Amino acid sequence: MGRLNALLTPSMEDYLEKIYELIHEKGYARVSDIANSLAVQPSSVTKMLQKLDENEYVSYEKYRGIVLTARGHKMGRLMKERHAMLADFLRMLGVQEDTLQKDVEGIEHHVSPATLEALQSLVLFLQSHPDVLSSFLAYRERSSEQPSP
Ligand code: FE2
Repeated sequence: MGRLNALLTPSMEDYLEKIYELIHEKGYARVSDIANSLAVQPSSVTKMLQKLDENEYVSYEKYRGIVLTARGHKMGRLMKERHAMLADFLRMLGVQEDTLQKDVEGIEHHVSPATLEALQSLVLFLQSHPDVLSSFLAYRERSSEQPSP
């Protein structure tokens, strides 16, 4: 992960993630669907699509729709994987779903590839050592019951 996205702004990353998601769920991504799911104006979507087109992440023509280029597809998938991995991590720690999704939206744009890789490794480790995860969760439970010192 990383590297490739050096030139992407956080909002370009969010759009690519969303376009990738829509195309995979519905087979296509429309300006109105993107606008709805990102809670932005259709005019902002159009502007961003032009920017993504200039950078060769999508191919966008007003009446023909939105197509991800090879690098757009690759980047969209990376964004989605990064989001999913960070969400898994926080979920594993017992963070509530709505807090977790909000936090991931912030963290994902700032985390370095090195930290991401370390977190990924921790997630895999905890998945393959459920006993370690349970003792951590039990520890959390106990410390939340005790009055703080
Ligand atoms: Fe995201």
